[in-house]
Amino acid sequence: MNPINQNNKYVFDIEVTALVKRFKEVVAVNGVTFKVNSGEIFGLLGPNGAGKTTTIKMLTTLIEPTSGKAKVANYDIGKDKSNVRKSIGIVFQDPSLDDKLTGRENLVFHGMLYNLESKVMSKRISEVLKLVELEDKADILVENYSGGMKRRLEIARGLMHQPKVIFLDEPTVGLDPQTRRKIWDYIIELNKKHKTTIILTTHYIEEADFLCSRVAFVDHGRIVALDTPEKLKNKMGGDIISLKVDFPINKNIFSKVKWIKNVKSLNDTLELTVDDGEKKILDVLDVAKKNGIKIHSVNLRKPSLEDVFIKITGKGIREEAGSFKDRMRMIHGRMR
Ligand SMILES: Nc1ncnc2c1ncn2[C@@H]1O[C@H](COP(=O)(O)OP(=O)(O)OP(=O)(O)O)[C@@H](O)[C@H]1O
Ligand SMILES: [Mg+2]
Repeated sequence: MNPINQNNKYVFDIEVTALVKRFKEVVAVNGVTFKVNSGEIFGLLGPNGAGKTTTIKMLTTLIEPTSGKAKVANYDIGKDKSNVRKSIGIVFQDPSLDDKLTGRENLVFHGMLYNLESKVMSKRISEVLKLVELEDKADILVENYSGGMKRRLEIARGLMHQPKVIFLDEPTVGLDPQTRRKIWDYIIELNKKHKTTIILTTHYIEEADFLCSRVAFVDHGRIVALDTPEKLKNKMGGDIISLKVDFPINKNIFSKVKWIKNVKSLNDTLELTVDDGEKKILDVLDVAKKNGIKIHSVNLRKPSLEDVFIKITGKGIREEAGSFKDRMRMIHGRMR
């Protein structure tokens, strides 16, 4: 792929080639290569310790890669650090606000770091506070914010200098579903209205599925799959209709049916893999009726990104994932 389009403008906001980061004996990132198109919402999805934050830290010039190359907004992360930094916004995984300042003061401090002129700064502060709906809380101390409000303020801060590319490291970790949903709305608005390229990390499957135009599965420092959520799910080869039946049952009755792609039986449950699950449910019930099979319940399941992750890596994202870390954060009251 050529990074320059007909108008002589680059079309990739991020180009990563064989990036490696070693911490002594730990290989945190083990040769990742990917490109993010301008205007995309791109997700790095993987369990705890997969190497997501380390990748983000290298791309945002916070740490040096051990080897490999990357460009962000067409600037080399090694040779052109200052231009990379000017082009990006970052929302860190760990909260990084000053609790003893108000929301507005945190934003002013950030604006000063970016040398924003005072008129521009107050205009931008109003804009970003409006976007994350924190106008009425702007002048209270951040220590009195809830976890969701802090996250929203951090997102607002990341946007103040109108970056071309924004990195969101676990934007909704530890937040309740309603606040998470709100933050998803801001992310989409940011991407649609301001054409900001967004790269986010998450271990929430629904988040990657809902927000991202493409998702990279990260496991043990490597990208093990990369595609649109739709195409990744299609790799599962169909929808699953599960039937609770009288036990025992001859599964050959279903295996013989041409349009049933796979049959798995687990005690009194049969799992049938089919295309177009919604349409096939009635046909499945028909086959059961004709063969005198009594069905107690039927359930249709579309494959999730979690199913695909399990298929590829042999393990789930959640069981190893953030739950423990999330709980610790909650216990320590960093996210309320
Ligand atoms: N500064 C460091 N020194 C030593 N090891 C590190 C350091 N930073 C990260 N690691 C290790 O690198 C690996 C990848 O960590 P990283 O934080 O990138 O994972 P992650 O995918 O962001 O996980 P999480 O979902 O928990 O945020 C882990 O094994 C971690 O312990
Ligand atoms: Mg992380």
